[in-house]
Amino acid sequence: MSVSVDPLFPEPAQQQSAQPLRPHAEHAFATELTALAAQDDRPRPARWKLSPWAVATYLLGGTLPDGTVITPKYVGPRRIVEVAVTTLATDRALLLLGVPGTAKTWVSEHLAAAVSGDSTLLVQGTAGTPEEAIRYGWNYAQLLANGPSRAALVPSPVMRAMTEGRTVRVEELTRIPADVQDSLITILSEKTLPVPELGEEVQAVRGFNLVATANDRDRGVNELSSALRRRFNTVVLPLPESVEAEVGIVARRVDQIGRSLDLPAAPDGVDEIRRVVTVFRELRDGITSDGRTKVKSPSGTLSTAEAISVVTGGLALAAHFGDGVLRAGDVAAGILGAVVRDPAADRVVWQEYLEAVVRERHGWTDFYRACREVSG
Ligand SMILES: Nc1ncnc2c1ncn2[C@@H]1O[C@H](COP(=O)(O)OP(=O)(O)OP(=O)(O)O)[C@@H](O)[C@H]1O
Ligand SMILES: [Mg+2]
Repeated sequence: MSVSVDPLFPEPAQQQSAQPLRPHAEHAFATELTALAAQDDRPRPARWKLSPWAVATYLLGGTLPDGTVITPKYVGPRRIVEVAVTTLATDRALLLLGVPGTAKTWVSEHLAAAVSGDSTLLVQGTAGTPEEAIRYGWNYAQLLANGPSRAALVPSPVMRAMTEGRTVRVEELTRIPADVQDSLITILSEKTLPVPELGEEVQAVRGFNLVATANDRDRGVNELSSALRRRFNTVVLPLPESVEAEVGIVARRVDQIGRSLDLPAAPDGVDEIRRVVTVFRELRDGITSDGRTKVKSPSGTLSTAEAISVVTGGLALAAHFGDGVLRAGDVAAGILGAVVRDPAADRVVWQEYLEAVVRERHGWTDFYRACREVSG
């Protein structure tokens, strides 16, 4: 069955010669979203492009009745995705919490793309995020010339999401200063944003909701106030539960990224990926995968996201300076960079791990040599 292109999920102009380096999820996966929308006959909440079931299928992957394959975006417990999607259909906002690199940003982008067809309404939280980024600002030329008016008002992404009934994303919520965070309370509980300068308010229309992400490691930087926390349903994204799951995630993402960078596909890359993931997991867990040897953990997070960049970097090395086959020598420097964050303490941890674990491991001689070479 040929599916006509739904204007709600438009492909970026095909004839455009300059392709974006990283297309938004709704463009990169427009074909899947369109196929889902065409075959989705379940009820959709107001202004949702898809039903909650179809949004979950988009995230977790599956095969549609007509045979269209939906690739998994998130690999993890189904229930987590179901709870996240359902939350967005209620009047509570969604908070994705987890250690770095557990796909919080990634899931929030795909949720916004699938629910609203647009993942670009985004507030990036930093220590310097001003209240205007959450509420509204002013076009000062207009303001000075004509005084406060609707035309002089510059809506924030949150305000736009409210008036258009869409999903807005707030990244790194706990990095935002507490008083600025609190401007979300009225928005999330009363679903309104007062504009006292105009004696007006902007009311959220149905379909509006908010997905925030926060990093576990930032806890205590700007703790969420309990008033704000109550407005959120918190979903914790876990680290991948098994080596196989993590290898699968890394392999899929590396393949996607490699294609967007026009790198040749690595034929036997998966063995090398398994070694990178094994090293990261063992150092993270503080114990070898056979449970026999305790190892010290370095200060870095060694997340899945970092494994993805190490392997992508290795593939680029293999493609440009090798024979295109990913080998231990291509990933060794990347691993060293990820593991040794603190030049003194982490280097000792790494050397100990190399000598006690990697050196003894059957079939890892090339890997041991490559790591020794870059470790100096
Ligand atoms: N369980 C998973 N399923 C699919 N992809 C994953 C998973 N875990 C990590 N990734 C991949 O890791 C990469 C980084 O994820 P992302 O940037 O969303 O992490 P994050 O949790 O927002 O980290 P940070 O706290 O540093 O912001 C993404 O490319 C994503 O595809
Ligand atoms: Mg993030």
